Amino acid sequence: MRKYKAIYSVLFVFLSMVVFSQNEKESPVYKNPKQDIEKRVDDLLSRMTLEEKVYQLNQYTLGRNDNKNNIEEVLKQKPAELGSVIYFNNDPKLRNEVQRQAMEKSRLGIPMIFGYDVIHGYRTVYPISLAQACSWNPELVEQACAVAAQEARMSGVDWTFSPMIDVARDGRWGRVAEGYGEDPYTNAVFCVASVKGYQGKDMSDPKKVAACLKHYIGYGASEGGRDYVYTEISAQSLWDTYMLPYEAGVKAGAATLMSSFNDISGTPGTANAYILRDILKNRWKHDGFVVSDWGAIQQLRSQGVAGDKKEAALKAFTAGVEMDMMNNCYDMHLAELVKEGKVPMSMLDDAVKRVLRVKFRLGLFENPYTPETDEKERFLLPASLKIAEQLAEESLVLLKNENNTLPLSGQTKIAVIGPLAKSRWHLLGSWAAHGNTDDVITIYDGLETELGNNVQLSYAEGCAFDGNDTSKFAEALDAATKSDVVILCLGEKKDWSGENASRSTIALPKIQEDLVMELKKAGKPLILLLSSGRPLELNRLEPLSDAMVAIWQPGIMTGKAVAGILSGRVNPSGKLSMTFPYATGQIPVYYNARQSARTHQGNYQDIPTIPLYEFAHGLSYTNYVYSDIKASATTIKRGDKLSFEIAVTNAGKMDGKETVHWFITDPVSTISRPVKELKYFEKKLLKAGETRVYRFEVDLMRDFAFVDSTGKRFLESGDYYVMVKDKKIKIELVD
Ligand code: BGC
Repeated sequence: MRKYKAIYSVLFVFLSMVVFSQNEKESPVYKNPKQDIEKRVDDLLSRMTLEEKVYQLNQYTLGRNDNKNNIEEVLKQKPAELGSVIYFNNDPKLRNEVQRQAMEKSRLGIPMIFGYDVIHGYRTVYPISLAQACSWNPELVEQACAVAAQEARMSGVDWTFSPMIDVARDGRWGRVAEGYGEDPYTNAVFCVASVKGYQGKDMSDPKKVAACLKHYIGYGASEGGRDYVYTEISAQSLWDTYMLPYEAGVKAGAATLMSSFNDISGTPGTANAYILRDILKNRWKHDGFVVSDWGAIQQLRSQGVAGDKKEAALKAFTAGVEMDMMNNCYDMHLAELVKEGKVPMSMLDDAVKRVLRVKFRLGLFENPYTPETDEKERFLLPASLKIAEQLAEESLVLLKNENNTLPLSGQTKIAVIGPLAKSRWHLLGSWAAHGNTDDVITIYDGLETELGNNVQLSYAEGCAFDGNDTSKFAEALDAATKSDVVILCLGEKKDWSGENASRSTIALPKIQEDLVMELKKAGKPLILLLSSGRPLELNRLEPLSDAMVAIWQPGIMTGKAVAGILSGRVNPSGKLSMTFPYATGQIPVYYNARQSARTHQGNYQDIPTIPLYEFAHGLSYTNYVYSDIKASATTIKRGDKLSFEIAVTNAGKMDGKETVHWFITDPVSTISRPVKELKYFEKKLLKAGETRVYRFEVDLMRDFAFVDSTGKRFLESGDYYVMVKDKKIKIELVD
């Protein structure tokens, strides 16, 4: 009996081995979804040739005009082993054809990852990021990003090149539109919200995409507000101004980052081993990958740190850029660099593993193809429109409202004037992905629907965006004269902000200012609606206007949101995420500048030194009354718990949402710290007459400490102040 048992056991083991190796032949470990991702990555890597590895690290484009007729041509130009494409189209069928080539024609069947710039919506375009931050509603931004992710993934995009979290303090730079403004903490909070919205808990969800934090790092400091130029960033500013949002995004699990065009103290972001390897990979332990910005590797030549593309490939790759976006540097030179021993194979393997890891996490090996659904199933879903509408409402900022000009009440004749009154295109903002002008509700249409038959609207264009043709002024003045109130829709064209769209002045073109002066002659209340991708210089318009609303570029729900605010159906709750200078000459001007030597001097002789509208400025139709700040303790030791409370009463007649911003000041420290630093904010709904308590739970190391030029945090004893608006309380930290 015992003998038979032994024979059976041997036979069993033998048969299992045969079956196992058979399975292994049919389904290698990397194809087995039950296996751990790291094991799958290792297994796949072990099967790859040098060339196959290198191909994984390249990204080409797949043009917007691709269609069934030229797809064959496109496919011929792309190697089946390619790692990634930028997918400009929104047809899942085309994606699938390209993906089929990777899955079926390449030896190992490694799926491509399809990336695209989904910056503020895919088809359901919602407000630009700078405006989103003015909502101070990260939960809402998370929901909006989830809408973008759903539309994008269902259309064949696995990976968005978003969020942009470059702290930016120069409104002349067109890309301020794409980030969350001038404050590091604000950028960090909205970064985390958008990463959560895009990626969710599991990126393999067919409605989620991988996020990409960009542009790592310091791009917002471009000198003179000119795009692509040098930056001057001290090690201290690098850490206390630019790093925080990236650190937060990495902690939140962002799958990828994009390296920047600019340099950090002489070393371009794309060749910067300190930020890419020492900090990102070694200190923060990021295990996803870094893609170069478009052409940023080959541009190392024009930045003067590489003589040719091969050297550029070497510098970028060894610094820690894993994927080459449109440079033809890695595909041309990386294999050669490995063979020459200049790039260690272990470094190449690590890079490939990072790319594969993200692909596995996205579930691309199990589900390489996008279900071929109808557009109706993907785009402009009722719940998505609701989110876009609410975000547009909450991001509008009421800058001025003299004599309660707004909300409108009782007027029966309203003149709607200006180049933006019936515009659709310009309200989409830059990087509007697959935004379609047919989806946009214009300001005029929104008002017409909102105000109904009792109100008679008239329209006049007044003038073009720029130029000096005043021939339409007379018609506009006539419309204004015959009305009870004038709504004047002014601002920037869509392409005046965004990438490569710097301006030397942030004022509106003279023709638009002249139109305001002209219409003033009608003697009617003037409401200015200002659409832009940046803060504006408004010192000449402010005295001419009765009310002003910064509407930014609110996306497809513009008309509905604007009409809701003007009619009073919606109480404005937006507050500025970026300072509005008095004049362009004040730039850079931001709320958290470092303390200066002479506070009583150093002013401009010709203009005021303070900005026209400060960071966090924004009015509402109700009146909020703030109590004093209460602290849980005013003398504390390290390790103690500390919290603050402030009661806010809605003393007006209209319900509203109010954001409380908590700032700190550390007047004496080892380094000269900013005059004020935002550490927390919270938005709550306050019914008319209601009082609610806002609370700030302090983490001393996070909120009171300062970071030095190496990224180390220090908490020093001494006095600190905690501030909300004009309320202030002193805290003493003792040893
Ligand atoms: C921009 C990036 C963008 C990339 C791909 C670059 O020119 O700087 O922000 O993601 O193009 O479109």
